[in-house]
Amino acid sequence: MDRLSKLKSHGSWVGRWTFILAATGSAVGLGNIWGFPYKAGTNGGGAFVIIYLLCILAIGIPIMISEIIIGRRSGNSPINAMKLAARDSNTTSSWQIVGWSGITAGILILSFYSVIAGICLNYIFIAATSSGAIDSAEQFRNIISSPMNLLAWHTLFMFLTAIIVSAGINNGIGRMVKILMPMLGVLLIFMVINGIISGGFAQAFSFLFEPDFSKVDSNTFLSAMGQAFFSLSLGMGSIMAYGAYMPKEQKIISTSFTVASLDTLVAIFAGLAIFPIIFAFGLEPNSGPGLVFESLQTAFNQMSYGQIVGPLFFILLSVAALSSSISLLEPGVAFISEEGFMSRKSAAILISFLAWLLGIGSALSFNLWSDFNLTPGRNFLDSMDFIANQILLPLGGMLIAIFVGWFMDKNLINQEIGHVNPILFGTWRFFVKFVAPMSVGLIFYNAIFG
Ligand code: TRP
Repeated sequence: MDRLSKLKSHGSWVGRWTFILAATGSAVGLGNIWGFPYKAGTNGGGAFVIIYLLCILAIGIPIMISEIIIGRRSGNSPINAMKLAARDSNTTSSWQIVGWSGITAGILILSFYSVIAGICLNYIFIAATSSGAIDSAEQFRNIISSPMNLLAWHTLFMFLTAIIVSAGINNGIGRMVKILMPMLGVLLIFMVINGIISGGFAQAFSFLFEPDFSKVDSNTFLSAMGQAFFSLSLGMGSIMAYGAYMPKEQKIISTSFTVASLDTLVAIFAGLAIFPIIFAFGLEPNSGPGLVFESLQTAFNQMSYGQIVGPLFFILLSVAALSSSISLLEPGVAFISEEGFMSRKSAAILISFLAWLLGIGSALSFNLWSDFNLTPGRNFLDSMDFIANQILLPLGGMLIAIFVGWFMDKNLINQEIGHVNPILFGTWRFFVKFVAPMSVGLIFYNAIFG
């Protein structure tokens, strides 16, 4: 037996719903509720939304299916899963680069993700005690102007992430998402209804769904595509790692559609909950990362029982963030522990510490370092976001599509996909071979040379 066949096994998800819940838990997070509305807001609304939906369909879902195929075949971390798939398809082991770039992207994303999720944790208490005396936008400015405050919450969130991952995925997270994700759904619907009666719904609806293509340029495409990868947790191995624990009898294609639909629904609902408040209160839709906190807190200040609904909402948002952040940590931790370099626990501590250190830069970018640009025109947090979402994830995703479309042995693919409608299978093959890699390539080309 060679070394690759002897890697430590991680076991698999217990129960047929656990993969769907865990993958949905990974996908649904700050990207949907914090990221999507503010990115749609700063990119002109409807046109961004349409391009985003196209990216989910043409690029996201085909790549999600590919990631699960590679992951489930091997049962190992993305680096070794890629090595194994390449070896069994008689092609070069250099494909493992996908796994390495994924772990790097995971650390970069986790670093700023934890800072934003820390702000959500902080808002649980702000919403519980807010009397409405301070304007929400001013309150947000107060929160982010204190480096110590941001760092404290960032530390707490990173600590929670590391604890859950070190405990192993089945114990805890599976049970947690089963109760809390449906609750988040119910509260989100409640917030949409609140939006409908707030007076700004019609305006919000046309902002989100009436495209103004005059606002579209190559950057709109790049940012919608980055957001699609980010929201579906693709391009870095989160879904590949979770796929590794997926039971063999589960159907990959239909499961992927379920996860992607739930994720998209939550993003759209978040927009329909947030923008009506923005318009009803004359706030700016393009105010950036503070958008969600300012608009929702405005609503909670106005409504009766806001001091109960508000904290509840931020608790669930924090849980959604936690069920995503663990999937950012998992690929690296799985790799280190299956290689036997360290225990799962030590690996979780090591990687989360690296991400925590890097996160300090993002926390400071709201205050002390607000004028410091790491990449041209972007502060520290925006640079992390840009490098990971708009470069590493699409690149990783494109390589995965090229690998599965052109290099992976067809028999291996068939074994994982099982019996499906041949038209569905053929369509997926076509998208993985041509549409997904070419779209990513074209969007990159335009953003660089356009
Ligand atoms: N999808 C999550 C969100 O929308 C974040 C996330 C988790 C992620 N794992 C990922 C993003 C892997 C990119 C890659 O909040």
